Amino acid sequence: MTAQHAVFGHPITHSRSPFIHAAFAQAEGIALQYRAIDADLETFPAALQAFFADGGRAANVTLPLKEAAFALCASHGHAAQRAGAVNTLIWREQHWHGENTDGSGLVRDLTSRHGLDLRGCRVLLLGAGGAARGVAPALLDAGIDELVVANRTASRADALVDAMGEPGRVISAYWEALDEQGDFEIILNATSAAHGATPPPKLPSSLVNSRTSAVDLNYGAAAVPFLAWANAAGCRKQIDGLGMLVEQAAEAFHLWHGRHPDTEPVYAQLRAQLL
Ligand code: ATR
Repeated sequence: MTAQHAVFGHPITHSRSPFIHAAFAQAEGIALQYRAIDADLETFPAALQAFFADGGRAANVTLPLKEAAFALCASHGHAAQRAGAVNTLIWREQHWHGENTDGSGLVRDLTSRHGLDLRGCRVLLLGAGGAARGVAPALLDAGIDELVVANRTASRADALVDAMGEPGRVISAYWEALDEQGDFEIILNATSAAHGATPPPKLPSSLVNSRTSAVDLNYGAAAVPFLAWANAAGCRKQIDGLGMLVEQAAEAFHLWHGRHPDTEPVYAQLRAQLL
């Protein structure tokens, strides 16, 4: 029987997940149908129920539903628990179980694809919303030395720092005072600033050293402003979020099917589509 899968979110028409999972399934010889379902915070519970009634037992969840999905799950994996957000749903023992593969997907992209060694790094995380919360625990688990969180709204940075529960290793900084924070091996943009009309507050070039990699969780046009700054500021590497997108999908695929697909062919196809 063909397994029913879906990604829920709003907006969802531009989601690449159906393409990615169809390609993985074909390569692995697994029969599955993977569709995009438009659902907002209000309609998500009913949409998930309808999906379940249709035989759906595995799904992804994207913006703005990751926290709502967390609340809907009766059990959570370690990463989802720490992030307070779920991007992968699995029906297990008569309930929805929630996992979060965003952080592990990012770490796999940075280490395997881009050859970064995260151990001992000072990391600056820009943003403190859902995307930042999703990746912060995995960066800590990967052995970074220190995580400095800066956000336009300082109180949200403080809340993220508190949620990580590692005072001293995870600290917040005022965006306006980032020139007092020294330099970083990794500067990670987890803001959605490029989607809005207001540009983010300026970043000082003193954040950059000779080994700094700049990483944007966005890809396509939304990654252009931050990576252009990184280029001008002299960052050694500029990495967008396309690899993370493919890797988080592969981690979800592994949770559902017990196999980790080769991500390189799909990554190459998506990269070519972006050019
Ligand atoms: P997501 O799930 O994509 O993280 P979110 O939870 O709405 O979405 O968070 C968006 C993040 O981008 C927040 O850190 C937000 O900062 P605020 O907490 O101050 O709102 C950040 N952000 C959005 N627009 C921004 C801008 N123009 N400049 C700087 N940060 C911005």
